[in-house]
Parts: sequence; structure tokens; C-alpha cells
Amino acid sequence: MRKKIVVGNWKMNKAVAEAGELASAILGQLGHGFVDCEVGIAPAFPSLTEVGKVIEGSDIRLVAQNCHYEDDGAYTGEVSVRMLESLGCTYIIAGHSERRQYFGETNRTVNLKVRKALAEGMQVIMCIGETLEERESGITANIVTTQVREGLESVSDLGGVVIAYEPVWAIGTGKTATPEQAEEVHASIRETVRSMYGEAVAEELRIQYGGSVKPSNAAELFAMPNIDGGLIGGASLKADDFVAIVRAAG
Ligand code: 13P
Repeated sequence: MRKKIVVGNWKMNKAVAEAGELASAILGQLGHGFVDCEVGIAPAFPSLTEVGKVIEGSDIRLVAQNCHYEDDGAYTGEVSVRMLESLGCTYIIAGHSERRQYFGETNRTVNLKVRKALAEGMQVIMCIGETLEERESGITANIVTTQVREGLESVSDLGGVVIAYEPVWAIGTGKTATPEQAEEVHASIRETVRSMYGEAVAEELRIQYGGSVKPSNAAELFAMPNIDGGLIGGASLKADDFVAIVRAAG
């Protein structure tokens, strides 16, 4: 039985003190009673230390929104996996669609990040998903399959990997994929992973859904057989909503 995983991706929101307050409010409401569900929060880089302090000793995971794939060097503005690890991060999000859309990330760079993070002992949430245009052209399955295959190229052990399926047209738009639409893609992702790694690995892999998840739709999404939790944007900025979503998974 796969343990569900719900992660709040705060994106470029909340200055340090606000981030600390939000983490504190989430921790206060969750307490330690979410053993059936793994929970993480991904603040912006400047707030990792503060949020890390707030959640220290709890079961909430500290998650980074991005990383670079080199160890160190002349990469102005970038952050290495080891730096993130030294702040207490245990997960890194790689290849979020906003990184692909606005910052030129490709399956190739996502793959380098996934490999670097895993090599450093981190766990990775690899994001994939089609645009509206791709969905309307009927090529969702091809796009997602390619993202999985290329993103995981040369990755031999999938133990530290979570895949987040985030249809780009559903992110921040209030337009959620229906549970059936999401389930169809999740099942196809698992099928791709089965063909690459075999039955046992595919069955263990957790596939999160992301895109306008709210307290009102979380339970029906998480009830689908291949949906193993969520990557939450907007709703993770409100402690009440995020905690309600975690409870829907737990
Ligand atoms: P929203 O929940 O705001 O649609 O964002 C989803 C997302 O991109 C999480 O990474």
C-alpha cells in the first residue's frame, strides 16, 4: 500500500517572517496526527532556514522548489543540492511546469537535476504534465510518456522518486482535472514506469496530482486508485485549506 504524500509548493510567495508564521500555523493544526500521509512544505529558498526551524522535530518534510545539477561553481543565482541538504531539505521538486515555461527547463535539465538530487541522497518530486494545446491536440499521453522516459533516463533506482502529474492548464486556473481525467493519465504514467522498471517498482511509485487542488475536490481526487496525494499551490498558502487537504489524504 503506497503512503500518500501531500506537499505545499509555496512558489514565490511569503517573505521570511510570513513563511515562519504559515509553517507554524500548519504545524499547530496538524500536530503529529498524520501518520498515514507524508507531508511536506516547499517555501522559497530564503525562507528554508526559518521554516526548517519551525518544523524541526516534526514529521513535516522540508522541500526545495528547485536545485542546480552541478556541485558548485560559477552559476550566479543558483543553489546546489548540497546547500539544500545543509538546510535540512529532504526533497527537491524538479521540473515544475513554471520552471519549464519561464526558465527554459527541458526534460534534459530535469533529468540532470533528478540524477544529481538522487546521487546526493535526496528524494525528488519530478513534475510532468501537458499544456492545454497539447491536450486539445490529443497528444497528452505522448507528452507525458516522453517526460517520464527522458526525465528518468539513466536513473536505475526509483526508490527516491515521486512523480507529480500537473496538467499545465489546471495550475492556478481554478480548473481542476476531473478525478477521471487525472486517473487516466496517472494510470498511463504507472504503465510507462512498469514498462521501464517492472511491476514491483511501478506499484511502489507514488504519483501526486497537482493543479487547483482544494479542500472541496481533494478527497475525490485522492480516492482514485493511481492518485497518491497532491502537490498543492494556491491552497497551500492558507493553513486551514492545506490542512484540510492533508486530512483528505490521510
Ligand atoms: P495550484 O494548486 O495553485 O493550481 O498550483 C499547483 C502547482 O503548481 C503545485 O506545484
